[in-house]
Amino acid sequence: MMRMDNIIFIGFMGCGKSTIARALSVELDRIFLDSDLLIETKFKQSVNEIFKNKGECFFREQEQKLADFFIFCQNTCIASGGGFINVKNLEKIGSSVYLRADFEYLKKRLNKDEITKRPLFFDEIKAKKLYNERIKIYEDKADVILDIENKSIDELISELKKVFK
Ligand code: S3P
Repeated sequence: MMRMDNIIFIGFMGCGKSTIARALSVELDRIFLDSDLLIETKFKQSVNEIFKNKGECFFREQEQKLADFFIFCQNTCIASGGGFINVKNLEKIGSSVYLRADFEYLKKRLNKDEITKRPLFFDEIKAKKLYNERIKIYEDKADVILDIENKSIDELISELKKVFK
């Protein structure tokens, strides 16, 4: 694994991409970037409001703009949104780490408040369908797959440090 490569975390809503990317960035002393946060900061609106006011397409365009920027970054840890894997140049950004877990496990981890923040999780049946459509994409696009179920953040970070030492 190249030392200067960006590490980008991918996976379904609730898998802990932001938590793990942030923790690893501290551990490896890298810059931390979070695609959802960058979009929210730009528009001073939550992801939810952006979906409501401007639509999902607009949000996806913003993700693509970020992907076009991330390819010029080095040595960062990036938390992506669950749908970020559909940008056209993901593999150019760096090494993708898929944080994998079953739908039921992810659902259990997201409390009411966390679900309210996620427009594509409001409807559980639709969320499950989206999960099933995406698992293969996550697996195909991942350079590293990390099974996260019943593991602490510390355990996950030490597994990641073995890969990206
Ligand atoms: C989305 C996941 C969200 C956020 C948006 C759309 C998706 O990010 O980008 O609500 O399409 O799966 P998280 O994975 O951080 O919840």
